[in-house]
Amino acid sequence: MDILENYSLKELNSFSISANSRYFVVLDKVEEIQEFLEMDQYRGLSRLVLGGGSNILLSGNFDGITVKVDVTGKELLQEDDNYFYVKAGAGESWHQFVLYCIENGYSGIENLSLIPGNLGAAPMQNIGAYGVELKDVFHELQAVRIDNGECLTFSNSDCKFGYRNSIFKGEAKDQFIITSVTLRFAKQPVFNTSYGNLMQELEAMNAGPLSSKVISDAVCNIRNRKLPNPVEIHNAGSFFKNPIISNELFEQLKEQYPDIVSFVNSETEVKLAAAWLIDSCGWKGKREGDAGVHEHHALVLVNYGNSSGSAILNLSLEIAESVKSKFGIELEREVNLVE
Ligand code: EPU
Repeated sequence: MDILENYSLKELNSFSISANSRYFVVLDKVEEIQEFLEMDQYRGLSRLVLGGGSNILLSGNFDGITVKVDVTGKELLQEDDNYFYVKAGAGESWHQFVLYCIENGYSGIENLSLIPGNLGAAPMQNIGAYGVELKDVFHELQAVRIDNGECLTFSNSDCKFGYRNSIFKGEAKDQFIITSVTLRFAKQPVFNTSYGNLMQELEAMNAGPLSSKVISDAVCNIRNRKLPNPVEIHNAGSFFKNPIISNELFEQLKEQYPDIVSFVNSETEVKLAAAWLIDSCGWKGKREGDAGVHEHHALVLVNYGNSSGSAILNLSLEIAESVKSKFGIELEREVNLVE
């Protein structure tokens, strides 16, 4: 294993922030991860576990060791009368995995097409889009415990999934390296086309009978229209979570702002579109140097070229402050800040 020093992370984060890591290592096997964790000289350092780098903001150089997890491989592990169980390495690209599933007749993640990042990061934040979340198809994952190298299996309930949340962002934060993920796909697929404008897009495409391929194409069309491609305009998807508030508070806001965009979250709670709140404060398309708010989507912050991580962070704090003073709502970051 090659441990490199003073390594540039610019190509490894979708915001394309120029920042160096004091040490850097790529690990592509579980045994190699365990071997690395036994090395005394790196034990005391802060550790950044990197997947696709599509949901992080590097605020500056990282004075620790960056571990890029590159465990690959995908296979049909088993099947029974009702389900296929498909296992894949944490280092596999999420979207390539979606396409592999569609080609092989495993339905259930087509709505999650084109989400950037790798498989290992998907359970961390319970990725979701167009009415589907990872937890709907998640079976189990394998992870290595950082303090003793032990391999553990986490079931769906062990992961404590929530909206863009899991145990790995809470009580187990920074304690595990996820190495593989197994998803469970129903043999009788139930397509989910009820979210937002997905049905409209499907009708406009006039693509014939529903299939996971057709739904995936529709999702890709919608995403390509309104979300910037991180390869062209550097970004990390939604910068903030959509805030969840009580029905009572929602009623008060609705009186004052009749156009406010919301989704039912539970019997007692409403999820607000953070994009609408930010847009209403006039931020869409605003730019401060190379840090900006995307012109088609107010929830996506972008690096137009050579922005520093701290400039994007400062812009995000200004945005959160203006939403707080106009609506009294605190926005919570969805992107992970690396300090
Ligand atoms: N809107 C505005 N202004 C804008 C953009 C949107 O007012 O500039 C309003 C529109 O009324 C729209 C609503 O906000 O109906 C919601 O927008 P959108 O459908 O684009 O979804 P979102 O709530 O902003 C969430 C996820 C996305 C996911 C989409 C589609 C979060 C934090 N984000 O975005 O996930 O792709 O739904 O399901 O939950 C991500 O997590 O990085 C991500 C991109």
